Amino acid sequence: MAKSTLASLAALSLAAVVSAQTAPQWGQCGGQGWTGATVCPDGWFCSVLNPYYSQCLQGASVSSISSASSSASGASSGSPTSTSSASGTTPTLIAGNSFIRAVEDPNFHQYLRSETLNSVGTAVLGDPVDAAQFQINNGQLEQLVPDGTILYATVEPPANSTVVKLGISWATTPDTLGTFLWGGDTVEWNSATVSRPQNNAWLVCPDAAGNKLLFLNLGPYDYDTPAGCADETIHAYTGATPTS
Ligand SMILES: *[C@@H]1O[C@H](CO)[C@@H](O)[C@H](O)[C@H]1NC(C)=O
Repeated sequence: MAKSTLASLAALSLAAVVSAQTAPQWGQCGGQGWTGATVCPDGWFCSVLNPYYSQCLQGASVSSISSASSSASGASSGSPTSTSSASGTTPTLIAGNSFIRAVEDPNFHQYLRSETLNSVGTAVLGDPVDAAQFQINNGQLEQLVPDGTILYATVEPPANSTVVKLGISWATTPDTLGTFLWGGDTVEWNSATVSRPQNNAWLVCPDAAGNKLLFLNLGPYDYDTPAGCADETIHAYTGATPTS
């Protein structure tokens, strides 16, 4: 073998060793059978998505998820708890997930997430940069949190027969009141105990602090809209990044 070939082989294997130490941005960093890099670049962390796949994501790991139960009303007042992501970097869709967004004014291309990012608590719509990612499995709307935790969309039980909307919040335990499903790309919800004329009717009602709270609309779409609310349907978006 010529010296130059040996030299280039040595250079190649050196490059392989160096690259094996740090996974690339958005690259795989773990999972069953994974023999590659398990360290992410500076400013990135290795997020366990499932037993078979971990991925380098930007920002700091979510260290703990409170298991506190969500607020029953879904409403809150005081200072906004909405936060933009630490990095301010637009998320990239992970295979098998969808962003979920409204497509009607005044919430055109506002995206579903937790009021406090990646946390249990009130479900809100917000700017593309903070979009969370979702799957619907076994009738549950699941938010995939970067540390691998699943948060379930839970529907507030109706307090009485005069209630026209139900708060939505994120919890570590599944929803027991009804079933989430896709109707085409539209998020729907139905229940044996809560009757609604339309399974795809949602409302977005800003609270005093400007958080755009998501509610299940118990009435028909775009009719008898509660004061302060806007009718919305919410839809899967599977582009690589959320668009505004
Ligand atoms: C029904 O429940 C709502 C929400 O808790 C409450 O504001 C309202 O006063 C209740 N109405 C009746 C008639 O009980």
